[in-house]
Amino acid sequence: MLVFKASEDIRVYFKSRRSSIGLVPTMGALHQGHISLVKKACKENKYVVVSIYINPTQFNDDKDLEKYPVDLTKDQKLLSPYSNQIIIYSPEHKDLYPKGTQSNSYNFGSISKYMEGAFRPGHFNGVATVVEALFKKIKPNRAYFGEKDFQQFQVIKALNKQKKLGVKLISCPIVREKDGLAMSSRNQQLTSEQRVAASEIYKSLQMISSNQIEKNFFKMKQFFIDRVERTQALKVEYFCIALDTDLIPRTKLESKRNYRVFVAVLAEKTRLIDTVELKRMDYF
Ligand code: PAJ
Repeated sequence: MLVFKASEDIRVYFKSRRSSIGLVPTMGALHQGHISLVKKACKENKYVVVSIYINPTQFNDDKDLEKYPVDLTKDQKLLSPYSNQIIIYSPEHKDLYPKGTQSNSYNFGSISKYMEGAFRPGHFNGVATVVEALFKKIKPNRAYFGEKDFQQFQVIKALNKQKKLGVKLISCPIVREKDGLAMSSRNQQLTSEQRVAASEIYKSLQMISSNQIEKNFFKMKQFFIDRVERTQALKVEYFCIALDTDLIPRTKLESKRNYRVFVAVLAEKTRLIDTVELKRMDYF
């Protein structure tokens, strides 16, 4: 499998191979969620660049950055079935940040303001900075992202438009463990008690989504908190319901609108996020 550390080498590699290029940006510690993006990218493009780079500017908490899992050998093994199409790009900081690891500042309006934007100050500026750099260096035709980070995907859509980057953006459904927990590189940091408790996140979201709870924001929120915090292994950081367009949290829900539930849950210092569509409530 080809592994490049410098984007210049990727540029040279593709110079004589004018073809469709898909990009799957990741921070490594790959799991089947990432692989679902890679699979889709391999179907739709001749070549696929999988970037593996833990982007320091999107971490607002140094401890989170320090303990972020790294396992390039396992990553390569998971990618090996796709090795004839894949190029791994695993850069040093200076390749993506020639002037030092600092974020640009962007204005994405309400999309980046709440939820992850509110609880992780500077996070989306960091994500947008690295994604802009990746798009400019790799020049992909298409780029693939997971719906798990729904807000991140909306931010990248806004970035792509604002900066006229011209990449076709594709979002892919959330891949879950057997018990429903959304796959995440951070799941491996959970203790066994936290891991068992974490299955309650998606179970509760499913009940809320299918309208089994009274159609009232405060009741849904309380239901979620009661269920998830029951064993005291987890603490709900936020429970928000927002329109999937502006991502502004609402407490009064109107009929015939497309809402989504967004949650962040803390298992001590490990943050887990998840999101589900709220089935259309046409009979308020
Ligand atoms: P990372 O958390 O490694 O995720 C890389 C991509 O995989 C993201 O688009 C994310 O939404 C997707 N993904 C993660 N878990 C998933 C799951 N269970 N199902 C489906 N897709 C999943 O997101 C980032 O890295 C970074 O912010 C990045 C975009 C690479 C910029 O640094």
